[in-house]
Amino acid sequence: MTASASVSRPAVLVTRAIFPEVIERLSQYFEVDHNQPDEVLDGAALRARLAGKAGVLANAADRIDAELVAALPSLRAVCNMAVGYNNLDLPALTAAGIVATNTPDVLTETTADFGWALLMATARRVTESEHWLRAGHWQRWAYDMFLGMDLHGSTLGILGMGRIGQALARRAAGFGMTVLYHNRSRLPEQTEQALQARYVSKDELVGQSDHLLLVLPYSPESHHAIGAAELAKMKPSATLVNLARGGIVDDGALARALRERRLFAAGLDVFEGEPDVHPDLLTVPNVVLTPHIASASEKTRRAMADLAADNLIAALDAGPDAGRPPCVVNPEVLPRRR
Ligand code: GLV
Repeated sequence: MTASASVSRPAVLVTRAIFPEVIERLSQYFEVDHNQPDEVLDGAALRARLAGKAGVLANAADRIDAELVAALPSLRAVCNMAVGYNNLDLPALTAAGIVATNTPDVLTETTADFGWALLMATARRVTESEHWLRAGHWQRWAYDMFLGMDLHGSTLGILGMGRIGQALARRAAGFGMTVLYHNRSRLPEQTEQALQARYVSKDELVGQSDHLLLVLPYSPESHHAIGAAELAKMKPSATLVNLARGGIVDDGALARALRERRLFAAGLDVFEGEPDVHPDLLTVPNVVLTPHIASASEKTRRAMADLAADNLIAALDAGPDAGRPPCVVNPEVLPRRR
């Protein structure tokens, strides 16, 4: 490649290790600075690596805030490999004319499958009993070993009825469950009928659910949507599953409720301040903990990485969709982007 060809290609950063094929594809269009050794890049390191870059393929843990945006006059596109984008200061990006994208749809069914796995493991004490068995405690069968809570015929509550919430509701039909939901906006009647889901207030949802699934986006408004007050309204026989984002549940209050058996059990895939986990959660037995893997199937993680790359290529005016990234979360920026 000639020196002039190389300067004409936009520079991009891929902040975390990713499938090598994605780096190869991006390299057809861009000068790619990648992080295949997966070094920790935050704060000053992220800022230094982003200097002079036109685009970034980011991870949900990369904080792109107003201060960083102000320091990066060449940045034109921020493409998250995640459906959630609470790591981005969207108003700051939009004000600066920077396109922001996410990876919806491709992960919906896989995430809902995992929600079901976590719910069943939680209600039927799968990991708790496995730990007990591995520790060599199993001498004899007993009629009351690890009694759990049934899913079939119970009431499932879903807080946040977007794509993933709806995919969870569809699965509930196979278990003969009554489905209640609460959402910022009520679904059209036809959709409610198709899902056999009934809209209720948040208070009713919290009080009536036998199993409560959280799949709402994180925002300042949803911070501690389930805190001590909500936990106190839940049935002591209920389970709670957080598939959405850390910070939606007050993890300290949850650990107390679990320890005091004011709640039967919880399943958590996301945590406040992850990868740190509230120390009290690590010592209560009635909680299933997984490391933010709801979308982690081989096929889906590849689809997310490919979609994030499609977004980046198009946002920087290259490839077949040049100028029309498939999943823009701030579309108002398109007519006046950098
Ligand atoms: C994962 O948490 C995502 O937002 O895709």
